[in-house]
Amino acid sequence: MTNPMPHEVAKLVPAKGNINGNTMDAYKKDYETSMEKNDEFWSAKATEILDWMSPFTKVCQGSFERGDIAWFVGGKLNLCYNAIDRHVLNGKGDQVGMIWEGDEPNDTRQITYQEMLNEVSQITNALKSQGVRKGDVVTIYMPMIPELAFTMLACARMGAVHSVVFAGFSSEALAQRVSAAQSKFVVTADKGKRGGKDIPLKKIVHDAINKMDCQEIVEKVLVWERFYDPASTEAPFEMDPKDVRMNPLVAVQRPYCPPEVMDAEDNLFLLYTSGSTGKPKGLVHTTGGYSLYAAYTTKTTFDINEGDIFACVADCGWITGHTYVVYGPLLLGSTTFLFESTPVYPDPGRYWDMIQRHKITQFYTAPTAIRLLMRYGDEIPSKYDVSCVRVLGTVGEPINPEAWRWYYEVVGKEKCTIVDTYWQTETGGHIITNLPGVTDMKPGSCTLPVPGIDAVVLSAIDGHPLTDADKDENGNLEGVMAIRRPWPGMARTCLGDHERYLTTYFKPYPGYYFTGDSVLKDKDGYHWIIGRVDDVINVSGHRIGTAEVESALVAHPAVAQAAVVGEPHDIKGQSICAFCMLTVGYDESPELLKELKMAVRTGVGAFASPDHIVISPSLPMTRSGKIMRRILRKIVSNEADSLGDTSTLADPSIVDTLIAKFAELK
Ligand code: WT7
Repeated sequence: MTNPMPHEVAKLVPAKGNINGNTMDAYKKDYETSMEKNDEFWSAKATEILDWMSPFTKVCQGSFERGDIAWFVGGKLNLCYNAIDRHVLNGKGDQVGMIWEGDEPNDTRQITYQEMLNEVSQITNALKSQGVRKGDVVTIYMPMIPELAFTMLACARMGAVHSVVFAGFSSEALAQRVSAAQSKFVVTADKGKRGGKDIPLKKIVHDAINKMDCQEIVEKVLVWERFYDPASTEAPFEMDPKDVRMNPLVAVQRPYCPPEVMDAEDNLFLLYTSGSTGKPKGLVHTTGGYSLYAAYTTKTTFDINEGDIFACVADCGWITGHTYVVYGPLLLGSTTFLFESTPVYPDPGRYWDMIQRHKITQFYTAPTAIRLLMRYGDEIPSKYDVSCVRVLGTVGEPINPEAWRWYYEVVGKEKCTIVDTYWQTETGGHIITNLPGVTDMKPGSCTLPVPGIDAVVLSAIDGHPLTDADKDENGNLEGVMAIRRPWPGMARTCLGDHERYLTTYFKPYPGYYFTGDSVLKDKDGYHWIIGRVDDVINVSGHRIGTAEVESALVAHPAVAQAAVVGEPHDIKGQSICAFCMLTVGYDESPELLKELKMAVRTGVGAFASPDHIVISPSLPMTRSGKIMRRILRKIVSNEADSLGDTSTLADPSIVDTLIAKFAELK
């Protein structure tokens, strides 16, 4: 007997109070208006939420088919001005805009909006002094220190396009991203600190720029010092010819720099994300639409109000860090929280201790962290007074009802709203989520679409939008998640490859943006994300392309062929299981398995390292040579009894060998 699916047993949990007075009726009306008068809806939001240097003349133009969407056409603005300057001009200069907590809990900084304006201006001037110009791509590979956020803001201030690469990526993965973006400037730090350990970031950058064509592309490496001593005349790291010490350079700059006038559709940043091929996609977000969408969703999803202290503990290397650590909260003039460490350092009470000490009002993390902390028991959160929190958020993957319950009952004492926010790097901000005080919750469901998002479930078979007629006997619809019309926060292209943008998102279902996820919509209209339908694995909320891991594996001489699938994992959600066929002359050995794991660490990064590697005499191929991943997925999910049709395999007998080999590992 299989366990019931979460939606089959879910009970409604009443919406918890917000403090802005929103109601379900107001949400419904808002949603209706957004669908009936889409332009008016977004135009009103854009004027209310952002300050424009010149007004826009058209709200939205373009089509999904052509992929030429533009928002707030003709409008001019600067994101950094909106995130910092205007709050200072409005008398909020002395308000703390950012609280930073380093790896050690006593290592904290509070930075006011005035200080941010000065520091970000200095960084902007420093970047300009090194030759960075409007439109240049600046790659940022940094630890979670305030200078990371400030470097992003400095880029936005001068119109440089930042490309933040998560500091867990290997030098090879970094080189690939620097090369793909032809990025002349890399900003890094001499080291990072996580869980008491040093991470040699500068050294990784050094290795990266000696790879591929990066030596020719990269002109300068700007290096922040994790522990800067203003008295030191010598760098605490080995200086390479392209290196520039950031701290002393920034210190001598003028603390004001005028913000560049940017077009609403000027590129703001790019962010690489994994897809179905080995080449990561550089998604491009633009200035006006992204800024609006970041601010709007931060405000409504988290019910942000004056005096709130908003903590999103994601890394700035992912979209969550861009939208909900840096841009959203600062655009709202709120106080944001930047966290360098891990949920279990120095002990698994770290999050709750931070909430208590800093009086955090909204806290946002991922299901994987909740599942990890659950294992340490209920006593730990109970030791802290977290009554200041009103909203607890989750993002990155479907949250299992058990983890939801723990977050709701043990952490939030049934007093907080749990917002389950579904979105993607491509969407810029939340697209489906419940709202505090508005939407009744169901553990495991991200509930209803954000106003302005025309969410549609399409038939996976023929692509038609599912209607009442398609409902099963319980009133459920099952299909793929799509969006019928543009929204301001959507990515506009893949850098240097617009065709790939069209092929990935708009060609699969003409007239729709395709998310790549499958979904179930229940009788109450609530959405339950099931998972990716493409070759993307979600490990601890990190999107990893199977092709990237496979290409790291086949780069090892011992591997002739590799196929990678996601395997269910109690904490990470999914982990990686790699099936490898060896080159003639190589034999399986513990050393070889170690080497193969290492090959993935160096090719992609430690977070993509396979938990299991199955060496097998061959892989399940169709007669036309296509690897049948569906079969491998079933094997690693212990569903080998429901493999389906295996008659199209070139060698059906391989299946039993694989099942036996996988069982040995467990
Ligand atoms: C994919 C996007 C969005 C920031 C973090 C990841 C999955 C994300 C949820 C959720 C179920 C979720 C989807 C999506 N996902 N949030 N609340 N419930 N699934 O960003 O790396 O672009 O990954 O993460 O599969 O497509 P990303």
